[in-house]
Amino acid sequence: MIEVSNLIKQYGSHTAVNRLTLSVKPGEVLGLVGPNGAGKTTTLRCLAGIIPFTSGQVTIADVDLVTDPVAAKRALAFFPDEPRLFDYLTVRQHMTFTARIYGVVNAEPLIISLLQELEILDKADKLPGQLSRGMKQKLVIACGLLHSPKVMFFDEPLTGLDPLGIRKMKDSIMRRAQAGATVILSSHLLHLLEEVCTNVLILKKGQKIADGTLAEVSARYSAGESNVSLEEIFMRATGGVED
Ligand SMILES: Nc1ncnc2c1ncn2[C@@H]1O[C@H](COP(=O)(O)OP(=O)(O)OP(=O)(O)O)[C@@H](O)[C@H]1O
Ligand SMILES: [Mg+2]
Repeated sequence: MIEVSNLIKQYGSHTAVNRLTLSVKPGEVLGLVGPNGAGKTTTLRCLAGIIPFTSGQVTIADVDLVTDPVAAKRALAFFPDEPRLFDYLTVRQHMTFTARIYGVVNAEPLIISLLQELEILDKADKLPGQLSRGMKQKLVIACGLLHSPKVMFFDEPLTGLDPLGIRKMKDSIMRRAQAGATVILSSHLLHLLEEVCTNVLILKKGQKIADGTLAEVSARYSAGESNVSLEEIFMRATGGVED
């Protein structure tokens, strides 16, 4: 469960996220969409406790992020758009190191099954410098899934993956949501979001301009037409413009 109330994030005098309120329940996948600079990454970083926010309240799996950050972080995983890895640790060492940090017991079978699921088991002894961009992204995802997070934040998880990788990532996200995880996902790949998300939130200049189920949001912008794509809704809602 993710509860956000009146979240504000300022960088100096610039307000990147402005009074954002949202709620995502277990089993739901919320698609966070908006033009470049709308505040998607900033929002996800605030919700994952990676950067402090200016004001507001964030509750992750019934834990207040500000008053009990360690418990909240135990329940969540943040998957960044830029994979950052340790140059001198192999794929397997990244996994064992992450498992140790999170106190995952008997991690070895889980490590093997995650590397298998993400199709990088054959790269287990390679260093990041020997991996492609998509493989690095898969390793970051495998590391993030090790502690079986109840709440997951994905920032552009599909960019850089090949078509099969995209399909598997979508399946993997949907399967975890169906098993009770709570997910927020930001992406510009709107046709793919449509397949994964139960709900959508449109952000523009740090402010929420629409949210609800896909059907609710499309009803608001479709003026009675049927089968209006999320891309068309996005254009109508935001004007398609950058910040
Ligand atoms: N570290 C920072 N310091 C100052 N301003 C920042 C910082 N990070 C982001 N911003 C500003 O905050 C706003 C929101 O940026 P953010 O990266 O959250 O957008 P985004 O919606 O993720 O965009 P994109 O679709 O390009 O990934 C932008 O105006 C950006 O310039
Ligand atoms: Mg971003």
